[in-house]
Amino acid sequence: MEHTALAELLAGLPFPAFVVGADERIEAANAASLPILGQAAVGRNLALALRAPPLLAAVAAVHAGEAARDVPLRLSDETLFRANVSPLSGPGGMRAFCVLRDMTSEVQSEAIRRDFVANVSHELRTPLTAMIGFIETLRTSARDDANARERFLGIMEREAGRMNRLVRDLLHLSRVESEERMRPRDQVDLAGVLRGAASTVRPGAEEKQSHITIIGADAPVMVTGDADQLTQVFLNLIENAVKYGAPGQEVRVSVTRETVSRGAFLRVDVIDRGEGIDPIHLPRLTERFYRVDAHRSRAEGGTGLGLAIVKHIVNRHRGSLRIDSRKGEGSTFSVLLPEGE
Ligand SMILES: Nc1ncnc2c1ncn2[C@@H]1O[C@H](COP(=O)(O)OP(=O)(O)OP(=O)(O)O)[C@@H](O)[C@H]1O
Ligand SMILES: [Mg+2]
Repeated sequence: MEHTALAELLAGLPFPAFVVGADERIEAANAASLPILGQAAVGRNLALALRAPPLLAAVAAVHAGEAARDVPLRLSDETLFRANVSPLSGPGGMRAFCVLRDMTSEVQSEAIRRDFVANVSHELRTPLTAMIGFIETLRTSARDDANARERFLGIMEREAGRMNRLVRDLLHLSRVESEERMRPRDQVDLAGVLRGAASTVRPGAEEKQSHITIIGADAPVMVTGDADQLTQVFLNLIENAVKYGAPGQEVRVSVTRETVSRGAFLRVDVIDRGEGIDPIHLPRLTERFYRVDAHRSRAEGGTGLGLAIVKHIVNRHRGSLRIDSRKGEGSTFSVLLPEGE
């Protein structure tokens, strides 16, 4: 194949591709491969352009007349490619045609999936182990002890409740994830949603002598959305503000309008004066099962899925979630929802 035709062919490929001549030099390379090989790669010896022993071995094998092969190509700790090396005959002998595929996101999503399964198993196993232990005790040593029986049944009820919540939240999460691309269409009164969520959380807040106040929602505030899902968002945010806030504090929910370059938004701030969150945790807070203090969250009956569900619901509404928090001062979770669409 003539050199310019080869370059044109490579340019048409939507992934990094290059050809290594029989003399080990890079004969042609497309633009996508230059960040990997270096800008002045063409004409250079492959071994000097890239330190990748498996790829070099595959190229040598193909030059020696062997069949095509597929080898891993690790460029850094985070980036993994696979290189397909196949023979391409040429005037100076056998050339090696190398095509790269970026496997990074596949490897990452596989790791996320594995973590997720490990997390779910762990979260389910803890209450399950406790229940199995108590059943055993009820059958044996506590058999004739009415007081112990009552107490153990109480604990078992709590552990079963925890498992039930976990399964419920997992189902919610998977439903929200699968619907994420379908935009909600209903007209929803956000003020009503906020009042409903606040009144559900209020009994728990009163136990801590905390007050929930809503500002800016006296008149209806209409938004395009899914009422149940929006209720879930604010239930979790208000519940978190109460749970992780200081006893006797005020949790403030305020509705304002905000216009940014992307358009007009309704903005709901859920503000607490609790312990706040160290900034190092903020980027990961909406990950499934991520908790700042797992022990404490579990003790409160939390699953660590609340903010992950919030994030997906807000995305489905084409909105955004902002978290602003200062350690020792409190946190503000803001939900922005597009207005008037
Ligand atoms: N207002 C807040 N102040 C301080 N920390 C918070 C606040 N909201 C959330 N967090 C932290 O973020 C973590 C994740 O919150 P998320 O709502 O996802 O889970 P959870 O409340 O632990 O459990 P769940 O919501 O499933 O009952 C919490 O465990 C807590 O450490
Ligand atoms: Mg929560």
